[in-house]
Amino acid sequence: MTQWTATAVAHPNIALAKYWGKRDDGFNQPAVPSLSVTLAGMATKTTVTFDASFEHDTFSLAGQPVSGGPLVRVVGLLDRVRRTSGRTERAHVESVNDFPTAAGLASSASGFAALALAAAAAAGIDSDATYVSDLARRTSVSAARSAFGGFVELPAGNPGDDDLSAIPIAPPDHLDLRVIVAVTREGPKDVSSTEGMKHTVRTSPYYPAWVASAPEVCRRVREAILHRDMESLGIAAEESALAMHASSIAARPGLIYWTGATVEVLHEIRRLRARGLVAYATIDAGPHVKVLTTATDEARVVEALSELQGVKRTIPALPGLGARVVDVHIPMSRGSKS
Ligand code: DP6
Repeated sequence: MTQWTATAVAHPNIALAKYWGKRDDGFNQPAVPSLSVTLAGMATKTTVTFDASFEHDTFSLAGQPVSGGPLVRVVGLLDRVRRTSGRTERAHVESVNDFPTAAGLASSASGFAALALAAAAAAGIDSDATYVSDLARRTSVSAARSAFGGFVELPAGNPGDDDLSAIPIAPPDHLDLRVIVAVTREGPKDVSSTEGMKHTVRTSPYYPAWVASAPEVCRRVREAILHRDMESLGIAAEESALAMHASSIAARPGLIYWTGATVEVLHEIRRLRARGLVAYATIDAGPHVKVLTTATDEARVVEALSELQGVKRTIPALPGLGARVVDVHIPMSRGSKS
């Protein structure tokens, strides 16, 4: 046999306590702890095939060959798996997202979690979630959290330490949480998370304050989840997102991911709270707002958001499972074999 194939599915996650900024020791370690919820309903599916006849590693997303920076990241992960497993064959990676990247959901998180698991399984190495989390984190930090389902914490990196995996803290059904993505703009984002945080680390006078304050907010997010306290969770999650964005806005030059519609949604959320509804905001490196609410209030929150001029559409999501191996492979797209 000259071919080894495995397929994995993983979901995006939304950070309730944000990661923003890496340690400077070159190990792709986060400078702050973060805590997320893995989301059901949207998924990346990835098939990895190692084949002795392939001359190069290749990567197709939605049937289209991918080159440049994204391919370099994929090859970096495959190289790690080859080093651990002793496999020497090149691989083809075939990946599909069942949600649009324009939705502002981190497709890199589900993408690298699915890739890490599929590559480890195809190479026949230990593919438990802790290993997969560490492997994914070495390419994209937030992907470490999508290895697990439900509520997941990723500690800050230890100075000089190469290893770091996320830790599941509660299962998906632990809390009656609903996440509504308020899409405020179609199309790709301007500045990637990787670039945006690098610029913030280098130039923002508020970055040290962000690093100093983030662990306490993350601790409050964790406590609120463990106590099933939606109000404390929402308050802490919103604080984390606003503090992260404040550090970027203070960079030189200021990095503003928000549009007018982002701010419009933030104000509407405050009005909904004044009416007694559960509604809190979190925002990643883009203009969309992810609204945290409950099953009871979901319909009314969606209705209010949909009436805002700046909201193009809403996407509902709820806590889901971690990355897992599946039996049905994605057929290799034509011409992608090397
Ligand atoms: C704002 O994990 O995409 O979504 O580690 O450079 O790949 P890299 O960055 P990435 O950053 C995610 C940042 C965030 C917050 C979060 O998910 O914690």
